[in-house]
This record gives sequence, C-alpha cells and structure tokens, in this order.
Amino acid sequence: RCYNIFMAEKTLVIYKPDAVRRNIIGEITTLFQDRGLKMVGAKLGWYSREFWEEFYAEHKGKDFFERLVNYMSSGPIFITVWSGDDAVRVGRQLAGATDPLQADPGSIRGRYGLPMPMNTVHCSDSLESAEREISLFFKTTKFLNGNKTSFTLLC
Ligand code: PPS
Repeated sequence: RCYNIFMAEKTLVIYKPDAVRRNIIGEITTLFQDRGLKMVGAKLGWYSREFWEEFYAEHKGKDFFERLVNYMSSGPIFITVWSGDDAVRVGRQLAGATDPLQADPGSIRGRYGLPMPMNTVHCSDSLESAEREISLFFKTTKFLNGNKTSFTLLC
C-alpha cells in the first residue's frame, strides 16, 4: 500500500531536561524507531516558565504545577514529532506510567526515570492534544511533489 509518513497519525514526544542532561537521546530514539514510528520533526530548545504555563494550562492550580513548569524551564529539551499507526497510543505505552516508581520497568520512565518531576519524557495523551502541542513548537509547510501529491514538513 502507499504509505505516506507525513499523512499518518502524529504524536509529540519531549525528551525532558533530565534526558538531555544525561545524554540518553539516542537510547530513547531507538525505542520509538524499534516500535515502527518515524521521526518527522525534531529540534533542541530551551523554553521559558511562561511558555510551559501555557503548554500545561490544563493543570494550572494542581499542587505539582509550579514544580512542573520550573522543572521544564530548567534546561534544554529535545522536541520530536513521531508518525505512524496509533502513534499516540504507542508513545504513551512506551513512556509508561507518569511516576517512574510506578512505571513498568520495560518502559522509558521505568528504565530511565528519576524521582518526580524528572520522568524523562512527555508524550501527547490524545490526538487533539498532539495537534495542539505540535503547533506550539512547529510550523507546518506544505510541499508539492511534482503536481501529484503534496506532503507536509514541520520546521
Ligand atoms: S493528572 O492530574 O492525572 O492529570 O496528572 P498527570 O496526567 O499524571 O500528569 C500531568 C503532568 O504533570 C506532571 N506531574 C508532575 N510534575 C511534577 N511533580 C509531580 N508530583 C507531578 N505529577 C504529575 C506529569 O509528568 C505530567 O506531565 P508530562 O509532561 O505529561 O509528563
């Protein structure tokens, strides 16, 4: 079948400051690749507290909110977009439970996670949040392939 990775389901995966600091970008990337997803967008960045307040707006008021936004703005992160069948569900499954102490030892958080808030990765939890979160980091550019098909790149 004709399979266009730029058209398939997408999810956002953020390698959090503890992952970048410990230099485990390659290890995490391999786990997503081994599950058949393809990386279609990636960049390093370092974002302000204000940015994370917007990103995590739905959690405003929860007791962990300040800690979470302080942590996410504490250092560089690696932001990726992964494409493939059931990308959102695969991402959540690979990440494992929120708290590394509760996560399956075979999951990313179970294997690499440190005490909260250092749970190594963020993965979008639904198609809707994936779309919203991707648009907070990437612009979409459409390219024409001859005059037949168009495809979309993130930059
Ligand atoms: S909730 O209340 O069930 O919706 O929360 P949850 O989905 O488990 O987590 C939402 C995000 O908040 C982070 N989180 C925390 N950060 C710091 N400290 C504590 N105690 C804490 N508990 C939850 C959690 O990692 C989620 O962010 P992401 O980026 O998705 O991992």
